[in-house]
Amino acid sequence: MARFSDELIEEVRSANNIVDVIGSYVSLKKKGNSYFGLCPFHNEKTGSFSVSDRKQMYYCFGCGAGGNVFTFLMEYESFNFAEAMEFLAERAGIKLPEHDMTPTDKAKSDKKDQILELNKKAAVYYYNLLRAPQGATGLKYFKEKRELDDETMRKFGLGFADVHSNSLYQYLKSQGATDEILKESGLCGIDERKGGYDRFWNRVMFPIMDIRDHVIGFGGRVMGDGEPKYLNSPETIAFDKSHNLYGLNLARHSKRPYLLLCEGYMDVISLHKAGFDCAVASLGTAFTDGHANLMKRYVKDVYITYDSDGAGVKAALRAIPILRNAGLNAKVINMKPYKDPDEFIKALSAEEYEKRIDGAENGFMFEVRHVYEGFDMSDPAKRTEFQNEIASMLTIFTDELERENYLTEVSRKYDIEAGLLRRKVNELANKKAGKPVTEPLKDGRAIGKKQEDGRLVSQRYLITLLIDHPELYRQIKDLVTPSDFTEELYYKVAMMVYDGLENNNLVPASIISRFESEEEHNTVASLFQAEIRHLTTDDELKHAITDTLYKVKQNSIDYSKSHTGDIDIGKAIEKMKEDQRILGEIKKLNINLSNNGGN
Ligand code: UTP
Ligand code: MN
Repeated sequence: MARFSDELIEEVRSANNIVDVIGSYVSLKKKGNSYFGLCPFHNEKTGSFSVSDRKQMYYCFGCGAGGNVFTFLMEYESFNFAEAMEFLAERAGIKLPEHDMTPTDKAKSDKKDQILELNKKAAVYYYNLLRAPQGATGLKYFKEKRELDDETMRKFGLGFADVHSNSLYQYLKSQGATDEILKESGLCGIDERKGGYDRFWNRVMFPIMDIRDHVIGFGGRVMGDGEPKYLNSPETIAFDKSHNLYGLNLARHSKRPYLLLCEGYMDVISLHKAGFDCAVASLGTAFTDGHANLMKRYVKDVYITYDSDGAGVKAALRAIPILRNAGLNAKVINMKPYKDPDEFIKALSAEEYEKRIDGAENGFMFEVRHVYEGFDMSDPAKRTEFQNEIASMLTIFTDELERENYLTEVSRKYDIEAGLLRRKVNELANKKAGKPVTEPLKDGRAIGKKQEDGRLVSQRYLITLLIDHPELYRQIKDLVTPSDFTEELYYKVAMMVYDGLENNNLVPASIISRFESEEEHNTVASLFQAEIRHLTTDDELKHAITDTLYKVKQNSIDYSKSHTGDIDIGKAIEKMKEDQRILGEIKKLNINLSNNGGN
């Protein structure tokens, strides 16, 4: 996090009210001092997700997600910390320093911004044209030929490039763009003699967006049978084809826990239209590691729904190992006898497609089936070759349990004696040992509350109590200190909280930004939002406070007993006396509460 100073981070954080930021993603209702809504991080019907205006934090009592405004964007948008900073700085109109950039990098980034700006203008231009008289043929094509409705066309920002060969060029020039940048954007070409001309004309237009909704390029389709069927923007500094997926800007907000990977623009659009809002496509280019890693930011499972023809099968066979190597689970959807999702859904229905998702074939089993189809099983020699090939394929699984599961399945399905197959696989695996091909699959977010020991629960209560009732601090600071917090992270946070209370400048949400990972953000947030039994009277609250203090102290005493080696007896006795004295004082404590803080 070296790039930004603590002051700047705090400036950006405090300039973005968390209720407004989260409110733009989640519908929130005010209840008491907090706002509540449906948690965007797990499926629920109850509304356990709370956002506190006072604390500038959010917390879900259902799944434990929580943090400040940075954490929210890191979780919801899958941003890293720097990206969340950039996003919020931009939102609040704060300029971030660019001191780390070399002059060349700076020029490049300025140019990229210019191209993105031009693309945006072009997208609006095409969008409006489609809905103007000049766009009638395009609109007719989308509505009649492709059966799209207005809502879908709007969602994907579909547009139209008219029959004139330089109308966009003229328009963008009138907006002040130079020939040089127009050429570099890929939107226009410049001919020495005839001047500027448009790349796209007489085509229906598909703007391509990155995950932050910047228009990075375009695809344009002929409305009849011309060639090429689709013309695309070239790669530019703003358009990196192997690290962007068409439709991901929408799909990443899907509630479905997987992505559907298709071949093209129209597949994505028809799937979204049919309610499968998690469809994406790699664009004309082959599927790459970059695409897989991008997907991995959002899901664990990817369903391939490529065309059912030979080319589609070949592409699926290429994508499966790429997905697997990224740690993703690949499955293949069978759309036969139809060609692609578009055709399938039009011919049958969304319900039927849903069934095909449920029945999708495991990626590895799909690969095995295709190897099988290449051998003549009636010939013992070929049969052996096939079995050896399968054994070799099974060695990609380095996790024993996983490998065994596939082995059992393959031996059952292809009638290969399991023991023999296992021996063969082990033999081959030993040969190439030390070279794991596939990383073991990693779990995504753990939903549900973790099993916890009571020690940590009371330490969390205490921190939350101190934040909700800062007047407690002076009354208890000599009795329970940060060193009574036994967990490393809890200790660090307690130090910061005590320090803030001591100096009257405690801002819980800013403490969160001092930590870097999402996981730490969640834990720290949970310390500030511990779920405290509903306490109605001040007496109940006072009782809960002394009870918590006592538990934290007692636990800390027990913990240090079991974690310190042999100190001398004299010291041990002194310490014991002191501990007993403090425990006694806690019991006698007559808590003074000023006014209710609450959430
Ligand atoms: P398809 O030919 O399968 O097109 O190419 P499609 O998406 O199904 O579209 P429709 O239904 O025929 O209109 C799949 C993808 O390959 C790229 C495009 O991204 C397309 O969506 N492609 C295809 C090109 O870039 N250029 C082409 O000429 C053809
Ligand atoms: Mn297709």
